Amino acid sequence: MGQSLTSAPSNIALIKYMGKIHKEGNIPTNSSLSYTLEHLRTYVEIEKSKSTDTWELLNGSAYFPFAMSARGREKFLEHFQFLKNKWSISESFILRSANNFPADSGIASSASSFAALTLAAANLFEKINPQTWGNDVSELSRLSQRGSGSSCRSFFSPWSIWSEEGAQPLSLPQNSLHHLVIVPETASKKVSSSEAHLRVTHSSLFPGRAQRAQLRLEKLITGLRGHQWKDCFQIVWDEFIDMHQLFKHCPEPFDYRTEMSESILVKLQNLWRSQGDGPLVTMDAGSSIHLLLRPEQKELALLLKKEYSLLCPVWSSL
Ligand code: DP6
Repeated sequence: MGQSLTSAPSNIALIKYMGKIHKEGNIPTNSSLSYTLEHLRTYVEIEKSKSTDTWELLNGSAYFPFAMSARGREKFLEHFQFLKNKWSISESFILRSANNFPADSGIASSASSFAALTLAAANLFEKINPQTWGNDVSELSRLSQRGSGSSCRSFFSPWSIWSEEGAQPLSLPQNSLHHLVIVPETASKKVSSSEAHLRVTHSSLFPGRAQRAQLRLEKLITGLRGHQWKDCFQIVWDEFIDMHQLFKHCPEPFDYRTEMSESILVKLQNLWRSQGDGPLVTMDAGSSIHLLLRPEQKELALLLKKEYSLLCPVWSSL
């Protein structure tokens, strides 16, 4: 059977998935909402092998080299085995993957990696042993969720809502936002997001977290539908602060924010104060700051890109 090359995008959550009811299957404590980052993608190629399943870096001038950690490789191969079992596939394969963005850029690559792996495996396995559900995007999203929770949202674009029924597309008026990610620190993070999910459930601020996230989710959807950009900025801001406060109030506290990220956040707040307008601002489980801007804010997006590029790496859709 021939090779297949498939890609999937990353996504940025505005209402965060943080905390799991069950580790098995990555069942989240609350619903989340994300914007799909079409320009930041993982590519996966699968080739038949005579020995066991292995992972290699996919070579190509469009990709950024990266070293997958031993644990990362193990999770990737475990998920592949899970998919093989689903399709009753017994052959062995070489998996090759790479991102079109630098792995040290603070962009969560697990969403795009696991979505791309699930899609690539489905494409290939459907040729070997087709299933009635094998091309169903919702089913593939659910399968991908088992590998890494946030990846289930990458199957829908531009907006994806992940609730108890799984991820699904959400129609909102903003369908072509500019995206910038400012990366104050390129060293790999000390606490992985999987570890963060475990620790936050013991945070003194965890009681009420699901209700807070749900309320913000409803308000954000209303705000986006009503083009209330300033309200949306405040909701998205409060949401990531809430998540980072959970981290700080764990029995084993941890903090991703650095002096540089703090000073950039202050600049962004000042921008909003002086202009009454600006980007949506959010942070994941890392020190990177993600900005989303409306199409007509292109000039501001380019300005911010120029300004922050003087301080640290910036990766953008512009
Ligand atoms: C902070 O999807 O990386 O980015 O399910 O354990 O693989 P696992 O976690 P992961 O968590 C991402 C958490 C987040 C917020 C979000 O994307 O919603």
